[in-house]
Amino acid sequence: GSPQLETSKDQRLIVVSNRLPVTISKDDKGEYHFKMSSGGLVSALSGCKKTMSFQWIGWPGKDIPMADREIVNKRLLDEYNCVPVYLSDELADRHYNGFSNSILWPLFHYHPGEMNFDAAHWLAYREANMRFAEVVSHMCQSGDMVWVQDYHLMLLPMLLRSMISGESAQGEMVRKELGRVKEGVDDEVVKDVLGMQPGVATPVDGETDEGVEMLDDVEEEGGPLKMKERGGKRPHFPRGLSTFQKQEMVAKEKGKDGIRIGFFLHTPFPSSEIYRVLPVRREILLGVLQCDLIGFHTYDYARHFLSSCTRILGLQTQPNGIEFEGRYAQVGTYPIGIEPMQFVEGLQKEKVQTRLQALENRFKGCKVIIGVDRLDYIKGIPQKLHALEVFLTQHPEWIGKVVLVQLAIPSRQDVEEYQNLRACVNELVGRINGRFGTVEFMPIHYLHKSVPFEELTAMYALADACLVTSTRDGMNLVAYEYISSQSKRHGSMVLSEFAGAAQSLNGSILINPWDVQSTADAIHLALEMGPEQRESNWQKLFSYVSKYTAEAWGVSFVNELTRLSGLPPAGPAG
Ligand code: ADP
Ligand code: G6P
Repeated sequence: GSPQLETSKDQRLIVVSNRLPVTISKDDKGEYHFKMSSGGLVSALSGCKKTMSFQWIGWPGKDIPMADREIVNKRLLDEYNCVPVYLSDELADRHYNGFSNSILWPLFHYHPGEMNFDAAHWLAYREANMRFAEVVSHMCQSGDMVWVQDYHLMLLPMLLRSMISGESAQGEMVRKELGRVKEGVDDEVVKDVLGMQPGVATPVDGETDEGVEMLDDVEEEGGPLKMKERGGKRPHFPRGLSTFQKQEMVAKEKGKDGIRIGFFLHTPFPSSEIYRVLPVRREILLGVLQCDLIGFHTYDYARHFLSSCTRILGLQTQPNGIEFEGRYAQVGTYPIGIEPMQFVEGLQKEKVQTRLQALENRFKGCKVIIGVDRLDYIKGIPQKLHALEVFLTQHPEWIGKVVLVQLAIPSRQDVEEYQNLRACVNELVGRINGRFGTVEFMPIHYLHKSVPFEELTAMYALADACLVTSTRDGMNLVAYEYISSQSKRHGSMVLSEFAGAAQSLNGSILINPWDVQSTADAIHLALEMGPEQRESNWQKLFSYVSKYTAEAWGVSFVNELTRLSGLPPAGPAG
């Protein structure tokens, strides 16, 4: 049966992610367009909606002038149950293209060479996280659950905790921030990024920080957070309370106690040897340690996170979590999935069947290999193309008998590395098609665009094999989607061992994408595998994919979060 939520009816869930399920853009005529977003995070969370109701807070992809916000907000709320966090285009650029996608993304995927650390981007990251925290803290009440998603928002748990337990003046945070940015950021940049003068406090929503103690920064490596004494009437805490208990006392007065915060990382968490390259490695870890539950796709990512906490913060960890400031952050493995029935049922639709038949006619007598990736350097697209080239060179009898249909979904096009990749892939496709192609036949059909769901489903169903060659990938849901669309053909799944999915998709042909020869051999094996073997592989794969669904992922995470109290588990801890 379906996984069941154990939360009570009145317990509210708020999901926060940078990307909303819908992205807004504005055309030349000034009209707004709402487009379905792509990526594994949106696919999985959308798949949870049937079982779990939640309000979804995130960035709509575009700043909207004040005059238009009311109408846009209404549409977001009514049609998608979403609440926007607006960021100026400049701040969003530095937060999204800058810190998130030019620093954290490459680093978490073992590309430290691509990482460009820039203090202004860090400042913007912190600022954008603060804007999110303001919206969330405004919305949440005692007992709510807040589930924060992914690497764009790793400071949000800490900022939210300090906001709901007293810290309220944004200016104070900014001043502190300026004090710690290591390379000097000049006042002009600060004004640009924050739209304010450095050092000028701007209280939020008329709140003042009078009467509450606030969290101060960590003073030394591994040192404790301090409660700073401030002017005004301070609450009297009984002796011996932990920071966690004090936070809860202050939050209670504001009607915001017992708020559980969860965090899930959709990317890998790298080995501490890579992670420690990050100049703000401590701040990022401290940002998520204010959670009650921290989840990863695989056991390895969770282990890397815990060992980073030990090595970088000097904290003692337990196998399933870590005590910090009196709060226990449980750490666990929650492998994400998809909604397989969406593909199984999608395939029955007339439109998809018609399209499938047309494609089958088009590729008659030819085997089809499918690749579906955001055009991202972690997806190993050049490695995939090289492997195909080697395969065709070594097996010329397959020339004209196999095509690779590679869909490359445009992604993060303002980031330089993505522009370089685009040029590199274009060139490779041109060269390989030039080498093996004829007027009648091209070995690679390359589409750099987003395709509609029906087309995607038909392509998955058409293909005799799917090729995922990521050099690192949090999970990779494309593999799950292909398997779900193969109940008839039982095509082969060729899967990189560097994708999180390799830990679970037993029945795939695993490859090391850096080893071009063995990838070429795997293509050969996939194409020549007999029907019995393919069917038995597919049975194993599909039974996993239909059990570990997006829904199962969401429900198990939220159920666990419901059970936690922030207190360390019974028995000797920390
Ligand atoms: P990532 O999250 O890195 O993009 P995944 O493989 O986990 O990689 O997820 C990609 C997701 O994007 C899949 O669920 C896939 O169906 C979805 N997708 C692919 N093409 C489109 C598209 N044109 N529009 C919307 N979503 C798409
Ligand atoms: C990955 C990330 C997600 C992101 C998605 C699409 O799956 O983990 O957080 O939403 O890629 O990327 P984008 O930059 O368009 O949000």
